[in-house]
Amino acid sequence: MRAVDIIRAKRDGDALSREAIEAFVTGVTDGSWPDYQASALLMAIVLKGMNAVETAWLTDAMARSGDRVDLSHIPGIKVGKHSTGGVGDKVSIVLAPLAASCGVVVPKISGRGLGHTGGTLDKLESIPGFRVALSLDEYKKMLAEVGCCLIGQTATIAPADKTLYALRDVTGTIESLPLIASSVMSKKLAEGSDALVLDVKCGRGAFMQRPPEARALARALVSIGTAAGVRTEAFITRMDVPLGRAVGNALEIAECIDLLKGEGPADLTEVIVRLGTRMVRLAEQAASDDQATAKVRHALASGAALAKLREMIAGQGGDVSVVDDPSRLPSASLTRMITAPRAGFVTALDALLVGRAAVALGAGRDKKGDAVDLSAGILLPKKPGDAVKSGEPVMELRYNDPARLDAAVALATQAMVVGDLAPAPQPLVLGWVHDSGETMFVAGM
Ligand code: URA
Repeated sequence: MRAVDIIRAKRDGDALSREAIEAFVTGVTDGSWPDYQASALLMAIVLKGMNAVETAWLTDAMARSGDRVDLSHIPGIKVGKHSTGGVGDKVSIVLAPLAASCGVVVPKISGRGLGHTGGTLDKLESIPGFRVALSLDEYKKMLAEVGCCLIGQTATIAPADKTLYALRDVTGTIESLPLIASSVMSKKLAEGSDALVLDVKCGRGAFMQRPPEARALARALVSIGTAAGVRTEAFITRMDVPLGRAVGNALEIAECIDLLKGEGPADLTEVIVRLGTRMVRLAEQAASDDQATAKVRHALASGAALAKLREMIAGQGGDVSVVDDPSRLPSASLTRMITAPRAGFVTALDALLVGRAAVALGAGRDKKGDAVDLSAGILLPKKPGDAVKSGEPVMELRYNDPARLDAAVALATQAMVVGDLAPAPQPLVLGWVHDSGETMFVAGM
């Protein structure tokens, strides 16, 4: 089938046949579809959508573009985790070693930065020497010996997603339920997990900004996983405000290390404990959610999760000394403070604008294959609810390229609102879609 005919069909709003979807995924994988045709079809999908059957075919074709890893020789229920992407979302980097220290085997294929959101692989690469491109044998060895491993898509594992993900990052083609669902689930079906805990982000800094869209994505992910024989559940969590107090690759790794040393921010800890609880339960490492939560909290407090992070870093070739001395992580040469325009309380901190400001500083990509500045990013000493004095620092921009500063300052300045009254605290976990139904924790979901 000719690429141009498939692009035209979707442009005109037709449902694509299975054959057309296979031709697209094969063409992307073997390189016979050039980037411009793949991008044109991606844009047509963003604009015209895909029905549930097309989405299932796309996911299946993408998952089959490489190997579906068989981990049956490793004892236990393997539980994966994935987020649909947020700002300051470093949950996976803590959760993989944390769950592994509770006895869960955690296979994980992650992604790079996508749009205004950061990517686990870029963050991990800020640890000197850390390798995310492991061979299949190395991946399996890590899982058998350490219990967790975070790798990227390769030529043999989810290669179609590797290409499409990089194109979507720079062509305005991220925000689409079928594209997000197929991207996430092709990696999850390939990675060898028996069960999955997903984090569907919802809000200003997420690709699904409104609750009905996030809920629809959560349902789609759970139904694709379940149909493929993988026990899958999805939390819907708020992403209006960046998670934690650091945005940017190396800055986020430092925050993960702090958290594992018991000094992490409350919001990040809450999401990690909630998701970790379910990972421990799905792996049958606790008899109830309460027991699982106690196990997760103990692994955090006892240092067991931090020890597992060290093992993971060492196993993937990274410099373990960053754990004791985070100043060994890449650090930016320049700093600009943003200060409060008046006294009062922080009433909003727009995750989308903070994410865009971090990308403007160099923490993300403008073009496919661009190098990211691993040290660039933003520290957030003030979050919604905090009192501020006039002129007090509220954001710290870290960067190396002065030409990038003005655009970032404009975005960061707009991101924060200071008002007279402290806003009411907002619940972080909004809903949970699981194999026996849907539980929504706030009204309006
Ligand atoms: N994470 C992914 O792996 N893919 C997306 O499309 C969005 C988030």
